[in-house]
Amino acid sequence: MRHPLVIANWKMHGSGAFNQALVEAFLSLLGKHRAECVLCPPFVYLGQLKDLLRSSDVVLGAQDCSHIAQGAYTGEVSAQMLSDCGCQWVIVGHSERRQYHQESDALVAAKLSMAQRAGLSPVLCVGETQEQREAGEAQGVVKSQLLGALGDLPDLQGLAIAYEPVWAIGTGLTASPEQAQDMHAFIRGVVSDLDEKNGPALRLLYGGSVKAENAAELFAQADIDGALVGGASLDAQAFAAIVSAA
Ligand code: 13P
Repeated sequence: MRHPLVIANWKMHGSGAFNQALVEAFLSLLGKHRAECVLCPPFVYLGQLKDLLRSSDVVLGAQDCSHIAQGAYTGEVSAQMLSDCGCQWVIVGHSERRQYHQESDALVAAKLSMAQRAGLSPVLCVGETQEQREAGEAQGVVKSQLLGALGDLPDLQGLAIAYEPVWAIGTGLTASPEQAQDMHAFIRGVVSDLDEKNGPALRLLYGGSVKAENAAELFAQADIDGALVGGASLDAQAFAAIVSAA
C-alpha cells in the first residue's frame, strides 16, 4: 500500500504576512488526514515555514536545488543547505525550470543525485507539451525524461515522480482521470523496469490544475498516489480539501 502524498508548490508567490496567514489558516482547517503533506515555499521563506509548521505533521520541501555540492556558484542553493534548513523534500526538473532555465535531463540527473546524497527525498517532474501530445509523442517524451534523469541512479528508493502535463499547468485544463491514469501506469512500468525492487512502490503524483473539485476522482485512480499542487495550494481551504481527499 503506497502512502498518499500531497505537495504544495508555491512557485514564486508569498510574503511574510501572506505566508503566516496561509499556513495558520491551512493548519486550522486541516482535519484528520491520511496523506503525507509537504509545503514548498520559495527558499527565503523556509526558515519562516519551519517555525510555523513546528507543531504539525506537515513537512518542509524546496522547489529546486543545485547540481553542485558547494563552491563559487552565485545564487545557487545546495541540497545539503536545504537539509540543514529543515527540508525533507525537494522538487527537481519542474517544467518551468526546464523551459525558463534550459534544464536538461543530464542537469536534472545531477540534481537528483545531490538530493539523494543530502538525504532529501526528491520529486522528479516529467510531462509533455500540448504539441507533443497532439503528435502522439507523450509517452516517448516522458520515457526519455525518466531514463535521462534516473538511468544512472543506483536505486530509486525514497523518490517520488510527478506527472505534470505542461498543457495542464496553470491553465485550468486538467488531464482527465483516465488520461492521467494511463500515463501513471506507463510511468510505473518504466520505473519498475529500472528498479525492480523500489519501482513498484514509488509514489506517482499528478500535477496540473488540481483543485478541490477534481482531486477525489484523480486520487481514485489505481496509479495516482497523490498530487503536486500549484495555484490551489495558495488557498488554505482548497488545499486542505485536496489533502483530505487523498
Ligand atoms: P497548477 O496547480 O497551478 O496548475 O500548477 C501545477 C504545478 O506546476 C505544480 O508543480
